[in-house]
Amino acid sequence: MIDGGRIVHVDPSRPSPAPDLGGEDCLITPAFTDTHVHLPQFDAIGVDGLELLDWLERAIFPAEMKWADTEYAAAMATRVADELLSFGTTAVAAYATSHHAAAQAAINALGSRGMSGHVGQVLMDQMAPAALLVPAPAALSQASTLKPCGRIRPAVTPRFAVSCSDRLLRGCGELARRTAWFIQTHLSETVRECETVAGLHGGRSYVDVYRDAGLLNQRTLLGHGIHLSDAERGLLSSCGSLVAHCPTANRFLDAGVMHLARHERHRVRVCLGTDVGAGPDRSMVRVARAMIDAAKQVGNGGPAAKLHTPDARNAWWHITAGNAAALGLNDHGLLAPGCDADLIIVRPTKPWRQSVDPLAMLLYAWDDRWIERVLAQGESWYPARARIGL
Ligand code: GUN
Ligand code: ZN
Repeated sequence: MIDGGRIVHVDPSRPSPAPDLGGEDCLITPAFTDTHVHLPQFDAIGVDGLELLDWLERAIFPAEMKWADTEYAAAMATRVADELLSFGTTAVAAYATSHHAAAQAAINALGSRGMSGHVGQVLMDQMAPAALLVPAPAALSQASTLKPCGRIRPAVTPRFAVSCSDRLLRGCGELARRTAWFIQTHLSETVRECETVAGLHGGRSYVDVYRDAGLLNQRTLLGHGIHLSDAERGLLSSCGSLVAHCPTANRFLDAGVMHLARHERHRVRVCLGTDVGAGPDRSMVRVARAMIDAAKQVGNGGPAAKLHTPDARNAWWHITAGNAAALGLNDHGLLAPGCDADLIIVRPTKPWRQSVDPLAMLLYAWDDRWIERVLAQGESWYPARARIGL
C-alpha cells in the first residue's frame, strides 16, 4: 500500500486479489538509482575508437556546447528524464554542462518529473574549449546560486582535475563545505588522464589533489577510480568517499578494468553508474551485469576470484538500496514501510519463479520490455503520468 508517495505497508505473502497494477505474473522491485550520468551526452552515445581526452574533445564538448541554448537544454533534459524513467531509473547523480542557466533548467526538468537525487553545473576553467570555460570566481558564484527543485538538489561538480585549476578545486571544496551539497567528479579513468593530472598539479597523486582541495568526504562521488594505488584506496576509505564504478563505460572507452575486489579489500565504498555517453547502456540492470563481468575478468578465473565476484543478489542491491544510500537517499531503494514509493512493475516473460536462482534469472534474462510501469513517489511516470492507489 502507498500513501502520500510513500510505502505504508508491504505483505509479500498475500498478493492482493485485485491489484491496481500488475497481478500474479508481475513482480515489484524498488526503482533503480544511477550514481553517475551525463544528461547532455544522451545524443552522443557510441563515438568509438578514441582515448578519453580525445573523445571529450571530438565528441563530448561539441555536444555540451549545444546547451548554451537554455531552451534546447531544458527540452533535452526533459526528454532524458523520460528516457531514464522508462528504464526504471528514478534517482540520479547527474552532470549538466558548464552553462549555469542550462544546469538550473536540468535541475528543474528532473525535479518536476518526480525524480530524486543531485544534479550539478559542470565547473571547468582550463583545458577545454573556451566556450565551455568559466573562470573560477564566476563559476563558483554561479554554482552557489543553484536552487533545488522537488527532490533534486544541486551538486558541486568540478569536471575532473584536468579541466580544473587548483584554485577552482579548492573553491569547490569550500562551496561543498558551506552548502553540504554532494560533490561529483571523475578520478583515474585512464592512464593518460592520470599522467596529465600529475603534470598539471605538481606531481601529486590524483587522490591527493582532491584531498588537498577539501573535496573528499562521505558525500563525494568519484567516477571510475580504475588506476589507483593502494595508498590512494586507503585514503578514499578513510574519507568515506565513493567510487562510482562505471563498467560499461570503462569497456566502451577501453579505459581499463576496475579492480572491485581490491577496492573492497581496502573498504572503499563503491556504487554503480551508467556514465552515459561513455556508457552506451541506460539500463542499470545491464550495468549491474557488467559489474559482475568485470569482476570475473580481473579475477582471471582463479579460486580467489570466485570468492570476490559479486552475485545477482549483490548486483540488485547495488542498483536499488546500495546506490540510493550512496546518494544519501536512505528512505529509497527498498520495499519497506516509510520508504519512497519509487517502484517498477515488471512482467517477466520467462518462468523466473521456477529457476534455481530466480533473481539471477531476472538479471541475466532482463528485457526492458518487461517494464510495465514506473512510479516515482507513488505517481506513474512511465508509460504515462497518473496517480495510482496500490
Ligand atoms: N572525464 C571527464 N569528463 C568526462 C566525461 O564526460 N565522461 C567520462 N567518461 N569521463 C570524463
Ligand atoms: Zn562521467
